[in-house]
Amino acid sequence: MADGGVGNLESARDEAWAAPLETMDVSLAERFQNDTMWPFFERLRAEDPVHHCAESEFGSYWSVTKYADIMTVDTNHGVFSSEGGITIANPREDFHLPMFIAMDPPKHDAQRKVVSPIVAPHNLAVLEGIIRERAQKIFDELPIGETFDWVDRVSIELTTQMLATLFDFPWEDRRKLTRWSDVATAAPESGIIESEESGQQELMECAAYFTHLWNERVNAEPGNDLISMMAHADATRNMEPMEYLGNLILLIVGGNDTTRNSITGGLLALNQNPGEYQKLRDNPALITSMVPEIIRWQTPLAHMRRTATADFELRDKTIRAGDKVVMWYVSGNRDADAIENPDAFIIDRPRPRQHLSFGFGIHRCVGNRLAEMQLKIVWEEILKRWPFVEVVGEPRRVRSSFVKGYESLPVRIPG
Ligand code: HEM
Repeated sequence: MADGGVGNLESARDEAWAAPLETMDVSLAERFQNDTMWPFFERLRAEDPVHHCAESEFGSYWSVTKYADIMTVDTNHGVFSSEGGITIANPREDFHLPMFIAMDPPKHDAQRKVVSPIVAPHNLAVLEGIIRERAQKIFDELPIGETFDWVDRVSIELTTQMLATLFDFPWEDRRKLTRWSDVATAAPESGIIESEESGQQELMECAAYFTHLWNERVNAEPGNDLISMMAHADATRNMEPMEYLGNLILLIVGGNDTTRNSITGGLLALNQNPGEYQKLRDNPALITSMVPEIIRWQTPLAHMRRTATADFELRDKTIRAGDKVVMWYVSGNRDADAIENPDAFIIDRPRPRQHLSFGFGIHRCVGNRLAEMQLKIVWEEILKRWPFVEVVGEPRRVRSSFVKGYESLPVRIPG
């Protein structure tokens, strides 16, 4: 299940089952960083699936931990609003970034519709060719017989290139996208930014850069990239600067961290499950079912948050209007009542798409097919080249209970 040190996990399990339920707080970032959050969710699913935590770094909040209950919340946007923010941390009042993931209908629907054509089937087909060609180049340049960081050389580079393609972003500057994505999700203690202020300043540089691109495209013929789509549509052409920045951040972070961490997570999962890696070598057609299994197993966004707009009964609990409600996808994806043998990584699972990683309801991930396509290309290209990419050290994980991912993963491609 978890891939942190076994000792760590065992003591976490003791702690999780001994701790008083009333004060249990599953939002602690360090548990995600050392991969020991699993038994805490196990306990909540078993003993208090709709759990109220009265005090935490983020104030009081409800945890919804079972698959079916998460579906109930995610598909009821009438009661569970996205307006108050979509992560457990409240949005900053002095740096408010409106974005459509944190809006309710009708504005959400109108703005979402503007960018959705980016993943229309004909556009995906065009993107597939470009993404594959670029991926091939990355793989062809990897060192053989040497240890290198898979996150930096492969996962970040591939997803940054995909994003640059979606925005038709100046190619030589594409790592700026990686940086802005990291800055946008960085906690002050993460070491990524020096202070909240310096982070905000970097995001304003992002806004200035993209405003320049907007001005170029608004006066040109409508194109097939995300900036042009927003510049030419009624629902988005008159956005305030902070709303433009907010939606950019949404598209940058949405497409970046998530796919990046699935690329890394997949390699890690296969290394931890050599039998599955062998199955894949024997039958590369299993990539089709392995891709959604990777996305379930990784769950790149551990949660989404809503705010109740009315009292609501969920199981034996009453959630009150105004309460913060956190849907823990990371827990729902390990719920044995919904998914058979959920802790195991099984690349030929029946119904592998049955998972919560993309959410459900009106906010269900816009980029889900694109993300799956990117992962499919990655594994097709890897298998064409090498029978084995070996993980040779421990992964370093992100310190966050929202973005569930990796900072580095040392690997070696045997000569
Ligand atoms: C494995 C990769 C990905 C995962 C796990 C993921 C996950 C999610 C999740 C959990 C949500 C919110 C769902 C909800 O609240 O019900 C979401 C929304 C969104 N995602 Fe993704 N995502 C991924 C890739 C992408 C990509 C490649 C893009 C492309 C730009 C993208 C763009 C978006 C956007 C724009 C939204 C907001 C949708 C809305 O509010 O209507 N995502 N994603």
